[in-house]
Amino acid sequence: MTDSLHSRMHVVSDETRNLVNLVLEYSRRRTLAEDTPLDHPTSETELRRLAGPTVTEEGLGSARALAIFEHIFAPACISTDHPKYLSFIPSAPTKAAVAFDLVVSASALYGGSWLEGAGVVHAENEVLRWLAGEFGLPAGAGGVFVQGGTIGNLSALVAARNAQKEKLGEARPGRWVIVCSAEAHSSVASAAEVMDVDIAPVVTGEDGILRPDGVREALAEHGDAVIAVVATSGTTNFGTIDDIAGIAALKDEFDFWLHIDGAYGLAAMLSPQARHKFAGVEQADSLIVDPHKWLFAPFDACALIYRDPNSGRRAHTQKAEYLDTLTDAQDWSPSDFAIQLTRRPRGLPLWYSLASYGAETYREAIGHSIDLAREIATEINHREHLRLVREPELSVVVFERDGWQRADYDAWSDRLLEDQRAFVVPSSHKGRPNARFAIVNPLTTFDGLTDILDSME
Ligand SMILES: Cc1ncc(COP(=O)(O)O)c(C=O)c1O
Repeated sequence: MTDSLHSRMHVVSDETRNLVNLVLEYSRRRTLAEDTPLDHPTSETELRRLAGPTVTEEGLGSARALAIFEHIFAPACISTDHPKYLSFIPSAPTKAAVAFDLVVSASALYGGSWLEGAGVVHAENEVLRWLAGEFGLPAGAGGVFVQGGTIGNLSALVAARNAQKEKLGEARPGRWVIVCSAEAHSSVASAAEVMDVDIAPVVTGEDGILRPDGVREALAEHGDAVIAVVATSGTTNFGTIDDIAGIAALKDEFDFWLHIDGAYGLAAMLSPQARHKFAGVEQADSLIVDPHKWLFAPFDACALIYRDPNSGRRAHTQKAEYLDTLTDAQDWSPSDFAIQLTRRPRGLPLWYSLASYGAETYREAIGHSIDLAREIATEINHREHLRLVREPELSVVVFERDGWQRADYDAWSDRLLEDQRAFVVPSSHKGRPNARFAIVNPLTTFDGLTDILDSME
């Protein structure tokens, strides 16, 4: 161990060598484990009792700190990559993506500017360009990986408003308006709140699909005040895909920015069996898809893509004297395309995985979840006490158990986790409680899902 305290944490020494080995060895074990339990949350009192104070003046030492993490903190976190984690939207990063995430940290890569990170920016851009091509956008389309769908939607809508401001010049409406489905993700309402703009929610039919008629009325009513129309390609609740082609066709009548929120579902467009459901996406002015959802990347990454990246750049480039070197150059700097400045090149784990395995493996893995959702829906239809709330569109399956109230679903869900059998939290639709499987993990199986259905008998 070095005796100079100021450099102890940074020098290469026996101590740091040992620490790095310990952490990499733990990461290797966790990444390659085939029996990682689901685990469950623990109360703060219990965590404090078990771990004691961990931030101290002298430090605990790397081995003890890691042991506390491994044996106390990690087991108090639900394993989101477990094949029976079916709540919210699970995470199912590929082995390549997980392993490469370590490389991203180890290499101190800066992904904000071409000057500092040309190589990684190039790699991320290759992925973004490939995705844009899959979605039918023109060759010039591009963007940036941001933290998640919430920031992706907000950044796109800020760019859309900026474009509308540029178009209108001095003539500004009293209030700006975002047109979206009443079933749009909560992050759109959050963006409106942050931007201090209004939402014009368009009511959908029973099937939850946003259709052009309602959008046309909203566009006619709000005129130039409309920042954007947000269509969802795969709602979180049901996987419902709006009538994007119909909405995009309104561009013949109105001049508006079309933003597609595909945080969860747009990944399905990579699968030949679902591609046809996404007609119209190629007309988007901006779109998002989250690799940490159904593109098998670790948390956290959202691909934000603009049809015309310059519209994103004009809205988001930060200017300051110390940044002149960057902003005076004509380079492609990812920081310029969203609400952010310093950024980790969070698209790299996806790049490495995609480069390693190839696109076809991704198409297969996504298709597996779509097939499985259909199979389990058929099984649900065959069970006497169960009823689908809607036919699955992608890989979300929502169903009800006859006679169950919210308390029954809660007790069942708690028991499943207590027994370490599955993590399935109840959801609801129009005030009626239900159960919901969100399937994105290629290791989730039909038998695993029927075991959960059996527990509802
Ligand atoms: C359709 C949709 N949009 C946006 C989001 C928000 O994404 P994030 O959680 O990455 O911020 C989600 C998250 O589930 C989503 O499903």
